[in-house]
Amino acid sequence: MSALFTPLKLRSLEIPNRVWMSPMCMYSAAPDGPETGAPTDFHLTHLASRAAGGAGLVMAEATGVRPDGRISPWDLGLWNDRQQEAFARITAAIRSHGAVPAIQLAHAGRKASVDKPWLSDRSLTESEGGWQPVSPSAEPYPGLSVPHELTGEEIQQLVRDFADSARRALAAGFQVVEVHGAHGYLINSFLSPVSNHRTDAYGGSFENRLRFPLQVVDAVREPRRHRHRLGRQGQRPHRQAGRPGTQPGRHQPPKRRRRHRLRPRPARQRHHQRPGHLPDPAELVTAAPLPSFFRAGLRTRVPPAGPTPPGATMAEAYGMVHDSDRGVCPVTSDLERV
Ligand SMILES: Cc1cc2nc3c(=O)[nH]c(=O)nc-3n(C[C@H](O)[C@H](O)[C@H](O)COP(=O)(O)O)c2cc1C
Repeated sequence: MSALFTPLKLRSLEIPNRVWMSPMCMYSAAPDGPETGAPTDFHLTHLASRAAGGAGLVMAEATGVRPDGRISPWDLGLWNDRQQEAFARITAAIRSHGAVPAIQLAHAGRKASVDKPWLSDRSLTESEGGWQPVSPSAEPYPGLSVPHELTGEEIQQLVRDFADSARRALAAGFQVVEVHGAHGYLINSFLSPVSNHRTDAYGGSFENRLRFPLQVVDAVREPRRHRHRLGRQGQRPHRQAGRPGTQPGRHQPPKRRRRHRLRPRPARQRHHQRPGHLPDPAELVTAAPLPSFFRAGLRTRVPPAGPTPPGATMAEAYGMVHDSDRGVCPVTSDLERV
C-alpha cells in the first residue's frame, strides 16, 4: 500500500492519511454586519465535502485573527464568539467523516484590504468596505495602499490576537493550527528587509526581524502548553529520538521523569475545564512557519505561459464561476496550470 494512505502521527494526534486539503481563500464570507467573517453553509460544504471524500486533514482558509488582518472583506475571521460558534459546526462535520479539522490563522499585513482577486488587484477604499493596512514599516506593497507603521504596543496586541484566535480555534474543535508565515503577509513582511525598515527590537538584524514571528508561534502554542505538562527545556532532547542521524531512544529522559512531565497539572487542568474554555481533549498542533517562508517564494509564481503575463501570481489564476459575468474570470487553462 502506498505510504500516502497510511496514518501520520504528530505528537498525540493521528491523521488517518497524508492526503490533506490546502487552505484556500474562498472570498465568500459576509463582509459586514453581525455575520462578518463567520463561515457559512458555503464553507461547510466546501470543507466537509473534502472530508467526506477521504482527505485525512482539511484546513480552513487563511482566517484573519482580527478584522484588519483579512486579505479582503470577504475572508473568514476568528476573533468573536459568533465566528467560533459557526466554526464549531464545521469542525464537527469534518470530524464526523473521520478527518482532522485544521485552520490557518493569518494576518495579511500590508496586503490586506484588497478586492476579490479575480475582480481587480487593487486596494479597496473605505467606502468600498476597505481599511488602511498595517505593516512593520510604512512601505506599501507595490500597487497597494500605504500601510500604517505598527507601534510597539500594536505589535504586542497582534501577538495576543494570534493567541486569542488559537484559543478560539481549539474551543471550536480544531486539532491543528497553522500560522500563515508566507505570501508577503504580516509575518513575512517582518522577516523581509524589503518591507521591514524598523530600527527597534523588531527590525534590523535577522534575529530582530524574526522576533515577531517567534513571539506569535510561542503565543499560539501557549494554550497547548497549558493543557499538557510538557517539558519546558529549550532543547527537549527526547523529541530528537528516532529522527535521521539520531539513535532511537538514546536521548530519552529517564522514565520516571517523563511520566511526571506528561501528567496534566491539576490546577491548570481545572482552569481549562471551566464551561466554554477549551472543552475539547484534542491536542493543538502548530506548524512551524520557517519552512513555509522559504517555500513561499518558490510556490507562488505561476510559469509565464499562454495568456497569463510573466511573473503573474496564483491570485490571477483563480476565480469563482458565478463572478464570470463580470467579464474578468480567468480562463480554465490558467486554473489547470495552477
Ligand atoms: C483558490 C486558492 C486559494 C488559496 N488560498 C490560500 C490560503 O488561504 N492560504 C495559503 O497558505 N495558501 C493558499 N493558496 C495556496 C494553496 O494552499 C496551495 O499552497 C497551492 O495551491 C499549491 O498547492 P500544491 O503544492 O498542493 O499544488 C490558495 C490557492 C488557491 C488555488
